[in-house]
Amino acid sequence: MSLTRVAKVSDVPLGKGIEVAVEGRVVALFNVEGTIFAIDGLCPHACGPLGKGTLRKTTVTCPWHGWQFDVVTGKHLQSQTIKNATFPVTIKGEDIFVSLS
Ligand code: FES
Repeated sequence: MSLTRVAKVSDVPLGKGIEVAVEGRVVALFNVEGTIFAIDGLCPHACGPLGKGTLRKTTVTCPWHGWQFDVVTGKHLQSQTIKNATFPVTIKGEDIFVSLS
């Protein structure tokens, strides 16, 4: 499992998300009450930027057409067949690392 440093903890405001580019992919990072979660940053509907969506508790709403995902599980809230990839997050000091593999 290779870890890639993607951001500082302070880059991800409490209750919000950001987008980062990791190994050619877009990853969305979310800060849920101080815990960082990482999911595939492209909405499977039409590639909307989930990292720029509104976060409420563990639910992010895609800013383009409103699809909603749980940022902990990657699951779509209304469809049991749609799920975005989630990635393990490791915090070392102030740095956030994710593993895409
Ligand atoms: S691109 Fe996300 S809901 Fe359409």
